[in-house]
Amino acid sequence: MEVIITKNKQEAENVTARIIEAQLLKKKDSLLGLATGRTMENVYRQLIQLHKENNLDFSSSSTVNLDEYVGLSGEHCQSYRYYMNDKLFNHVNIKPENTKLPDGMAADIPLECQKYEDFIKNYGGIDLQLLGIGTDGHIGFNEPGSSLASRTRIKTLTRETVEQNGPIFGDNDQVPRHALTMGGGTIMDAHKVILLATGSSKAQIIADAVEGPITAWVTASILQMHPSATIVVDEEAATELKNYDYYKWAYDNKPDWQQLY
Ligand code: GLP
Repeated sequence: MEVIITKNKQEAENVTARIIEAQLLKKKDSLLGLATGRTMENVYRQLIQLHKENNLDFSSSSTVNLDEYVGLSGEHCQSYRYYMNDKLFNHVNIKPENTKLPDGMAADIPLECQKYEDFIKNYGGIDLQLLGIGTDGHIGFNEPGSSLASRTRIKTLTRETVEQNGPIFGDNDQVPRHALTMGGGTIMDAHKVILLATGSSKAQIIADAVEGPITAWVTASILQMHPSATIVVDEEAATELKNYDYYKWAYDNKPDWQQLY
């Protein structure tokens, strides 16, 4: 695991966008795994800027998102499909047909989940998976207790997640109780993963995920077993890390021959 601690939120977002840019420059037809949430909004703004100002090209790339609420159509302004169109896809040259999210309106949910897994596998896997983290340690919507080997499936959201996302919906009662989400096993199969967390509300859970035991009760802790995981945090989200000095030291002493990110 590589932990990159940046001096502020903006730099953490910038580093994350640059890692995605580097992936696209290396492999134009990358399959990018994308995430939603407030944390990602500025990352997508930066990618749009890189597209407009540096001609960052999305035309050969494809995307799969981590998750989607059950019962919300893509037109619903709180659906993750709407979020992705609004915050990224509508502003870059990606082909709409190359952008995939699980269909939360699917009549046959197990079939929809299987098709999602098959698509990723047939593509050759996810080249780079972007992740945020919930305050209960979830990645995607893999709530505490989720099997670390799970695949795309339906999950019931915890009360904490409903409350965390309540303000976005205006009211906790409006937050769907279920979501379709990639599983821990799906995420672990990605060739590279990058988790971004900013702000003091994520400090304790970042320490648990990075330095605590690997446990289904903090599903992000599974990334300790990933061969290529980068954790990008700002100073506020890094305050509880015991190995803080080492992460800084390791980044400052990163060999020149290794790529910057
Ligand atoms: C939701 C998403 C997660 C995301 C989390 C954190 O629960 N399913 O993928 O990481 O929110 O959101 P935020 O970035 O708003 O803190």
